Amino acid sequence: MNCFLKGEEYCPHATHTMPVLDQMVSADALIFTTPVFVLSLSGCMKSFLDHYAYIFIVHRARSEMFNKKAFILTSTVGAGSKAAIKTISTSLKYWGVNRVYNYSFTTFGTEWDNMALDKKSKIKKEIMNKSKKFYTEVNSGIKHRPYLFISFMFKMSRFILKKYADESSLDKQYWIDQGWYFGEKSPF
Ligand SMILES: Cc1cc2nc3c(=O)[nH]c(=O)nc-3n(C[C@H](O)[C@H](O)[C@H](O)COP(=O)(O)O)c2cc1C
Repeated sequence: MNCFLKGEEYCPHATHTMPVLDQMVSADALIFTTPVFVLSLSGCMKSFLDHYAYIFIVHRARSEMFNKKAFILTSTVGAGSKAAIKTISTSLKYWGVNRVYNYSFTTFGTEWDNMALDKKSKIKKEIMNKSKKFYTEVNSGIKHRPYLFISFMFKMSRFILKKYADESSLDKQYWIDQGWYFGEKSPF
């Protein structure tokens, strides 16, 4: 809560999280990977995302994220990719990321090294195709229309801040500084 209320520099892990955010903000694109653990994302990845709750749109979203494309890659022996991808994707969309792509592969009950060669090469081929498409997409520099739900959430966030945020709210001040609070500017 320190991140939300006092500022991200007050997060107990700020020395780790702030440099990583700087790198994400200046990166050409974002790529997230996780194995599926207990039908969802790994605890490490969840914990990582939790540290950036304060850059959700309703708080202090970074304007650079609205130009960004992201890719999520997951592996599983059988099930759970959908939930893992959904959780990561939800965070990224609420950060304002313009487009989120994904690929998941299943090792069918065994480890990668023990998989049949034909299955491995099929997965490698699919990953290669997906990554080429992602590279082309990032290189194109095209900024797509925002996800409908996110543009709705942006308007909702302004409403919430106007109705509930008090004068000392960092989020409110941030929105004013960005020009989003009175609607002079838009991150989209
Ligand atoms: C704690 C734990 C929980 C797991 N839960 C699932 C699961 O719910 N469903 C599944 O299909 N595989 C599950 N797995 C298998 C992993 O998805 C698999 O080992 C992983 O995709 C391989 O990636 P890695 O080599 O990076 O670990 C689990 C593995 C671990 C260690």
